[in-house]
Amino acid sequence: MRRKLAAGNWKMNGLTAQLAEAEALVQAHPAPGVDMLLCPPATLLAPMVERAKGTPLAVGGQDCHKAGSGAHTGDISAPMLADSGASHVILGHSERRADHGERNEDVRAKANAALSAGLTCVICCGESEAERDASNTLDIIGGQLSGSVPDGVTGHNLVVAYEPIWAIGTGRTPTLNQIGEVHDFIRARLERRFGEGIGRSVRLLYGGSVKPDNAEEIFNVSNVDGALVGGASLKASDFSAIITALEGARNQG
Ligand code: PGA
Repeated sequence: MRRKLAAGNWKMNGLTAQLAEAEALVQAHPAPGVDMLLCPPATLLAPMVERAKGTPLAVGGQDCHKAGSGAHTGDISAPMLADSGASHVILGHSERRADHGERNEDVRAKANAALSAGLTCVICCGESEAERDASNTLDIIGGQLSGSVPDGVTGHNLVVAYEPIWAIGTGRTPTLNQIGEVHDFIRARLERRFGEGIGRSVRLLYGGSVKPDNAEEIFNVSNVDGALVGGASLKASDFSAIITALEGARNQG
């Protein structure tokens, strides 16, 4: 059975004072029935890891370079993330793909670096609104999966997040049927490529305007094993409500 995962992506938000939200979160969930992950900006990784010590909160990065070290000003490598105490890294987020021109092959190279450093990759995929309108959603997702996900992954070191670009930060979400269709498709693709055992063990997150008031219905969709949450992960009270909804989800992996 897949253990559910509530992952928060703080994006480029958070100064030191914001660490109080992470502390409040672990106080509210000292023994959660799901996995909890926060991905703060790189400047807060080490202090958040420090505060998360001895608690069930895992901490992750939001990107990494494909090289382990070298002349890449401003970049952060996978071994650096691991060294800071991070256990996960988000890769291929649509904001990275759009703002930094990351292609599937770049995401795959970063994922290989992350796996070598012992990190779990949270690889993102998702269609634009124009692609959905043109009925190309599954083709796009299929291409992103085959291009971005490296060989040799397992249910321990890979999480896939489906994040329709038009749903991120907009307050709009796909219908539950649309979410289910894409998640079932991703599951089938993973099973076909990696075999049933591994394919069934990879957790699939939905992301894009997940809030306390829509979390429960989304979490009851088949093959939704949790969420990647942006805006609503910044406040402990909101993220906590989402975690509670996930703990009560009926769909079992
Ligand atoms: P959002 O962002 O929850 O603010 O829509 C989700 C994400 O980009 O991971």
